[in-house]
Amino acid sequence: MATYVNPGAAQAGADVTIYREVSPEQRAVEQRLVDNVVASFDACENPRLNELMVSLVRHLHSFIREVRLTEEEWGEAIGFLTQAGHITDDVRQEFILLSDTLGASMQTINVNNQAYKGATEATVFGPFFVEDAPAIELGEDLAFGAPGEPCWVEGTVTDTEGNPLAGARIEVWEADEDGLYDVQYDAGKRAGRAYLFSAADGGYRFWGLTPTPYPIPDDGPVGKMLDAVGRSPLRAAHLHFMVSHEGARTLVTHIFPEGDPIGRKDTVFGVKDSLIKRFARQPAGTPTPDGRVIDGTWSRVRFDIVLAPAGV
Ligand SMILES: [Fe+2]
Repeated sequence: MATYVNPGAAQAGADVTIYREVSPEQRAVEQRLVDNVVASFDACENPRLNELMVSLVRHLHSFIREVRLTEEEWGEAIGFLTQAGHITDDVRQEFILLSDTLGASMQTINVNNQAYKGATEATVFGPFFVEDAPAIELGEDLAFGAPGEPCWVEGTVTDTEGNPLAGARIEVWEADEDGLYDVQYDAGKRAGRAYLFSAADGGYRFWGLTPTPYPIPDDGPVGKMLDAVGRSPLRAAHLHFMVSHEGARTLVTHIFPEGDPIGRKDTVFGVKDSLIKRFARQPAGTPTPDGRVIDGTWSRVRFDIVLAPAGV
């Protein structure tokens, strides 16, 4: 039976690697290679690049040694990455999906968006943002014909002292009721997304669609990986936001409808309690905030956005 040892605990300065028992001679061979590869970066003049490469190599080798990676498994990993590259293009980004489904995106966001007073929490960016979304005015509809239940979204943008932030740029994007983003139909299509600016009092409002759960694109290698490990490709329903203002830390986040059964099983680990909001369903015939006539149900949600100062 395999036992586990921790050579790092006994060898000061050695890589702390937990792996199945190997002989001291074998361990020395493996450690010599790690040391050689690490030393290969000694001439790197960029200290940050040096730090990144050395740490990456140490962790990668620790992984290979810990699991005693077989050559067949190494080949499968290379094949997986090759497939991810082949399926990636200007709108399909399999590497972001991979990062998201391994929690690497969320952990990077955690590291870079430290909790600060009451600032709204960040979550994953995802692969479906585009730079050239259309502009809308306050109160306008960003659906642009995307199917789904209308949803009135309103709130304020403030700093952490409660001061309104006028002119904050609010980018919003979401999937339609079939769980698809515009660009998944056609790279040039723009629907279910827009940007607008907060008013002088920091307020904002627009019509969007009530979010519904959708699977991440699972017809590629990431989908196969999820299937192989018994995980669902479904994301918790959400509405994407990116909010920026001079002097403030740009916020990339979502809001999630309360009561979504997927919730914490979100396949990209993006759900945070503070981002779960009540999307109140309104019966057909309920008057709308702006007098718009809607044939059927609609929903409304409030999302007050608090931006941390830049540099925290
Ligand atoms: Fe999304």
